[in-house]
Amino acid sequence: MGAKSAIAQAIVERLDGYDFALAARECTELEPFAADLRLKRSCQVELFEFDALDFAALAHLPQQVHERGGPFDLVVLAFGYLGDAHAAQRNTDEIAHILNANLTGAAIALAPLANYLEEKGTPAGIIAISSVAGDRGRRGNYVYGAAKGGLSIFLQGLRNRLAATPVHVLTVKPGFVDTPMTEGLDGLFWVAAPDRVAADIVRAYRQKKDVLYTPFFWRWIMLAVKSIPERIFKRLKL
Ligand SMILES: NC(=O)c1ccc[n+]([C@@H]2O[C@H](COP(=O)([O-])OP(=O)(O)OC[C@H]3O[C@@H](n4cnc5c(N)ncnc54)[C@H](OP(=O)(O)O)[C@@H]3O)[C@@H](O)[C@H]2O)c1
Repeated sequence: MGAKSAIAQAIVERLDGYDFALAARECTELEPFAADLRLKRSCQVELFEFDALDFAALAHLPQQVHERGGPFDLVVLAFGYLGDAHAAQRNTDEIAHILNANLTGAAIALAPLANYLEEKGTPAGIIAISSVAGDRGRRGNYVYGAAKGGLSIFLQGLRNRLAATPVHVLTVKPGFVDTPMTEGLDGLFWVAAPDRVAADIVRAYRQKKDVLYTPFFWRWIMLAVKSIPERIFKRLKL
């Protein structure tokens, strides 16, 4: 889901031996990518129209994919909407858009997919891309951070619920990644290439990790950021 995302496509490039159901808005734009995959991998690739804000349609996704592409055993959630943090200070539509795209839409999309995988009862997985932004609220992006923090909690609970089943849930928390989402933004540092992040994600999934910070040093950065007492943190311009 979110198959046009730079990180999603880098993950697909690294998943050998799979057939793919690529779900995205205006999914026909993915036709060249799909054609290239079919040619290089001799795999089956199906395209699905998918909008995380179309809550009513999200319930049908597992059945649609199953009917057209056959049973599936790995779900990757890669869509996200950074939004305009400044606008979100005043514009309630922008707040709703950020929360709906990153949290509500993600939860409503994942719930039926998780149930499908659980009912199938065979080894399966969910990889969902959250963000380090969800680890602590900051003045610069707290609406997006709240949505990603909510998504991380949702995934933590889902992992807990599915722990006794063969369905594994991996939460991915990237730092800054060089993708269209961050293009032209100021103040970025240690920006990682999508392929580097994708390599970490696929490795962590195979190792059945629960939470991945990528690149790895973000685990330590966020540990430090989270440990700053609130009375000091509120005065910092992070
Ligand atoms: N780049 C970073 O620094 C960074 C850091 C931490 C986490 N992340 C997360 O990583 C994931 C992948 O993002 P990316 O960095 O690869 O950026 P990207 O290339 O800009 O991809 C984001 C994708 O999300 C899709 N999307 C947005 N709203 C959607 C909606 N309502 N329904 C369906 N799809 C929607 C976009 O679709 P369209 O192509 O149709 O617009 C786009 O393809 C996201 O969850 C993002 O929040 C990124």
